[in-house]
Amino acid sequence: MQSLYPTTPSELSDDDLAELYAYPSERPWLRTNFVSTLDGAAQGTDHRAGTISSPADQRLFALLRSLCDVIIAGANTARVEGYHPVTPSEARATTRTSRGLAPVPAIAVVSRSLRLDPILVRGGEAPTIVITTESAPSDVRKDIAAVARVVVAGERDVDFAAAREALVAMGHRRMLCEGGPTLMRDVVASGQVDDLCLTVTPLLIAGDRMRMAHGPSIEPAPRMRLRHVLEADGDLFFRYTRG
Ligand SMILES: NC(=O)c1ccc[n+]([C@@H]2O[C@H](COP(=O)([O-])OP(=O)(O)OC[C@H]3O[C@@H](n4cnc5c(N)ncnc54)[C@H](OP(=O)(O)O)[C@@H]3O)[C@@H](O)[C@H]2O)c1
Repeated sequence: MQSLYPTTPSELSDDDLAELYAYPSERPWLRTNFVSTLDGAAQGTDHRAGTISSPADQRLFALLRSLCDVIIAGANTARVEGYHPVTPSEARATTRTSRGLAPVPAIAVVSRSLRLDPILVRGGEAPTIVITTESAPSDVRKDIAAVARVVVAGERDVDFAAAREALVAMGHRRMLCEGGPTLMRDVVASGQVDDLCLTVTPLLIAGDRMRMAHGPSIEPAPRMRLRHVLEADGDLFFRYTRG
């Protein structure tokens, strides 16, 4: 992998990448990470992201997970992709300990319906956090609260400013939102996105797959500022921060 902007002469090591994607220390920070085809699809023909990803994208995906306190995911992504608690063997121990991070990132799943995999809800090395609304089924919410941390933020739609505050109050200042597109649209609309990492893989799949943000238009469209572009095997890796 090499840097195209700004230019660097050599291959980037994992340490170089950790430096390029370091979270700021002075304030909480919400990063989002997506992969897209050249024609804008955020899902493969099998409705999963893995089929449009690549080894270099997987490397970055794992690295970004290793740099955060908490991974935020929409319930549908958790269902489709089979999200389970992160295990210590999946996390880069040295990267995490040298940054004062817990052995594994927690997962915070956003859901109204509370239709969630019990294995995810039960948590692992880190307790799972369920971010939901007042309108969620109260009996299910009570059952979930017996095993997971529940954050109620908003009446029908999660209020992401309140959810973010709750995560920070739990000590989760380095946040990584892994989508999907429906969640992404609402997080962007709430003005909470500080950082966007986007991999573009050289595929053209057409069809009617979702883009990385799906839902009503956002007006005015937030403008992001380019921080860097990396390249590996024809994949481009963009990092943008809030404009
Ligand atoms: N290309 C990529 O990088 C990437 C990344 C992630 C996912 N994906 C793909 O995207 C697809 C899934 O995305 P998706 O858009 O269908 O689902 P999603 O965004 O993962 O999840 C949507 C669900 O999250 C909950 N939710 C979202 N916003 C909410 C809000 N404001 N308030 C309350 N609850 C909220 C709801 O859960 P309930 O339904 O439980 O109420 C909603 O149905 C999959 O195909 C996945 O593979 C691609």
